[in-house]
Amino acid sequence: MTFKTLDDLESGQRVLVRLDLNSPVEDGEVQDNRRFDRHATTVKELAENDHRVVLMAHQGRPGDDDFVSLEQHADILAGHIGMDVEFVADTYGDDALDAIRSLEGGDVLLLENTRMVDEELPEEDPETKAETAFVKTLSEEFDAYVNDAYSAAHRKHASLVGFPLVLPSYAGRVMESEYEANSSIATREFDGDVTMVVGGTKATDVIGVMNALDEKVDQFLLGGIAGELFLRADGHDVGYDLEGMNLFDEQWEKNEETIRNVLDEKGDQIVLATDLAFEDENDERAEIPVASITEKDTAYLDVGSDTVATYTPYIHDSEAVFVKGALGLFEDERFATGTTGVLEAIADTDCFSVVGGGDTSRAIEMYGMSEDDFSHVSIAGGAYIRALTGESLPAVELLQEN
Ligand code: 3PG
Ligand code: MG
Repeated sequence: MTFKTLDDLESGQRVLVRLDLNSPVEDGEVQDNRRFDRHATTVKELAENDHRVVLMAHQGRPGDDDFVSLEQHADILAGHIGMDVEFVADTYGDDALDAIRSLEGGDVLLLENTRMVDEELPEEDPETKAETAFVKTLSEEFDAYVNDAYSAAHRKHASLVGFPLVLPSYAGRVMESEYEANSSIATREFDGDVTMVVGGTKATDVIGVMNALDEKVDQFLLGGIAGELFLRADGHDVGYDLEGMNLFDEQWEKNEETIRNVLDEKGDQIVLATDLAFEDENDERAEIPVASITEKDTAYLDVGSDTVATYTPYIHDSEAVFVKGALGLFEDERFATGTTGVLEAIADTDCFSVVGGGDTSRAIEMYGMSEDDFSHVSIAGGAYIRALTGESLPAVELLQEN
């Protein structure tokens, strides 16, 4: 099913736009990231079409350190768009309404953090959200609603699910491209092999993806914490916590049976790491074949080079490759080569490729690769996993029904 896009929106209107500018915050400073750059495309197009453009977004959650005002976001976004972005420290009170009413065609205004509104966060059905003072008050000021926040589309928050019930609604450019690429594993038929690289820290995500996609995917290439847990199920002395660690044992206790069943039932499709990397006594990267590990006595921080060599031909022979999660601790250069090795193998081929899942895509820019070498690099985390596993995204469904 499809939705209306900016192509269907007549110019010169009052448009309320939901973006996802949720960003890392370090010592109170909002960190620039690709979400700004991506959403800038949508905002710029709207401004150029003479709309009065009012932006909503969230940052953090009440009680967390990264729950801050969007004032800095306005400046960062302005830099990416190359035009002024006004900011008002209010969402739907008099200050916000005054600022909205004084806009002219082509102006861009960012409202304050939607999560500062009490009615925003509780997960409730769209009908309830449409009845909130927040949605009722703001919707009066607009002709149309544009949702560009694909990466927050799994949340039933007022700014995401309330407005589509009361305003004509459209998908922004980011929403459009994310939806198409991330759903493609479920919706497209590929002629050749489909490979999925699954890593990251959460075993339940990996299990969910494998269970949902075992008929679509020819092979799953494993890494990360999840990969080590599967190695443990395969009888290797890895995948448990050393003193002071809290990564494996709790997940193992909760998921042991499922992991064993998945390995049993889908063993033919699952490819496990053949070697792992660790920090040696000189603080340098060292590697060990999995078969030689008799007892885990060090933390494994990446898959090894033999594993990358084993995974590469699968990638080269595939028609489509999807990546969910990193294969190692790529933020540390010494333990990045598992993740970058696999990404480079994907970049080398002409296959259809989608990279997403938490921070994985950050490895692409960190290590000087080009996004152009992939069909799609997602800026979504939780929404990406849900798209892969076929779970619905409430905010997307509402755009489709609109
Ligand atoms: C994200 O950053 O993943 C989305 O914006 C959703 O944020 P949340 O996980 O705090 O709801
Ligand atoms: Mg390519």
